[in-house]
Amino acid sequence: MLDWKNPPRLFIPGPVKVNEDVLQQLARPTLGHRGKEYAQLHAKTTDMLKKALFTEQNVFLFTSSGSGGWEASIRNCVAPDETVLCTCCGAFSDKWADVAKSCGKNVEVLKVDWGKPITSEMIDEKLSTGKYAGITLIHNETSTGLTNPVYEISEMMKEKYPDVLVFVDSVSAMVGLPLHFDELGWDVAFASVQKAFAIPPGLAVAAVSNRALEKSKNVAGRGYYFDFQQFAKRNEMNQTPTTPAIPHIMALNYQCEKLLAEGMENVWERHKKMGDFVRSWAKEKFGLFCDEGYASNTLTAVKNTRGINVAETINAIGAKHNTIFGNGYGKLKEQTFRIAHMGDITLDDLKELLTWIDDEIG
Ligand SMILES: Cc1ncc(COP(=O)(O)O)c(C=O)c1O
Repeated sequence: MLDWKNPPRLFIPGPVKVNEDVLQQLARPTLGHRGKEYAQLHAKTTDMLKKALFTEQNVFLFTSSGSGGWEASIRNCVAPDETVLCTCCGAFSDKWADVAKSCGKNVEVLKVDWGKPITSEMIDEKLSTGKYAGITLIHNETSTGLTNPVYEISEMMKEKYPDVLVFVDSVSAMVGLPLHFDELGWDVAFASVQKAFAIPPGLAVAAVSNRALEKSKNVAGRGYYFDFQQFAKRNEMNQTPTTPAIPHIMALNYQCEKLLAEGMENVWERHKKMGDFVRSWAKEKFGLFCDEGYASNTLTAVKNTRGINVAETINAIGAKHNTIFGNGYGKLKEQTFRIAHMGDITLDDLKELLTWIDDEIG
């Protein structure tokens, strides 16, 4: 039976560790979502998110997990007669292509081997056909521990294909890795809060460009729950279309205050330090799964070069230290294991975990 006073320490790549002060935000008295207190909370939170994401455009709060962003971007911004190019480099980017198909869209896929990045050259080659209205990009592929070269890709897109819309899954990147939404020229970028925001799951954040919003007006079949037009209309009143996860928004407001007080450059640098630390251990003891130049600063996928029994190691550390890290995802189970270093996880936390793994593997 779970001891609630002594919950497991989480190093899985989401949900990640949540600090006690953040949990307390979720326990505050609730508000009516059409009242002025909520409007103040909404306004303040979305203003801070705009600063954190370097945008002066729109920020929406979805009461959903990150997967909602997959559906929201596709359903709002890809018309029935258009084709979207889905770039796939791991389990989550693959899944997004499936979601786009399940939304009834025309989808073409650009696939690379897991552990390899999507490059601007590959996208350029595809887009030069002139077939695509939009592309999906994953900022950070959580299954392989890889960060795509999104700045390079975006520069190329802005120069050569300014009319193609760019949809970005930033689920395990947002606020942990650099993201200058307006400068990148992105149209939708979304994340769930159980990753680098370090809040329990239940809410997603999306930055949406003015042109994506404009486009969605004429896209048929954009559905009800994630309809950008409804979100924009309600945002003007500092509300959401349906009853939002208010406790999560209180926690998000609190976390945004801390992020901005620290400064986004410092936040990203803190993540880089944790990434460097875990990577140097991984390279000494095992190997990295993805190409090192693209290794993520929010999580590391360690290549199991020593053939340890990953599940048994996770169980043993769970039993001895009440701590869990991630096995490989999907087909990478046992071939890799994953350690999150994002949000409110600290270097000291990581030092402790890596010592325990060392003790376990001998
Ligand atoms: C990159 C990425 N995209 C999407 C998802 C799905 O997010 P959620 O589980 O919040 O729906 C995840 C979950 O881990 C993810 O890592």
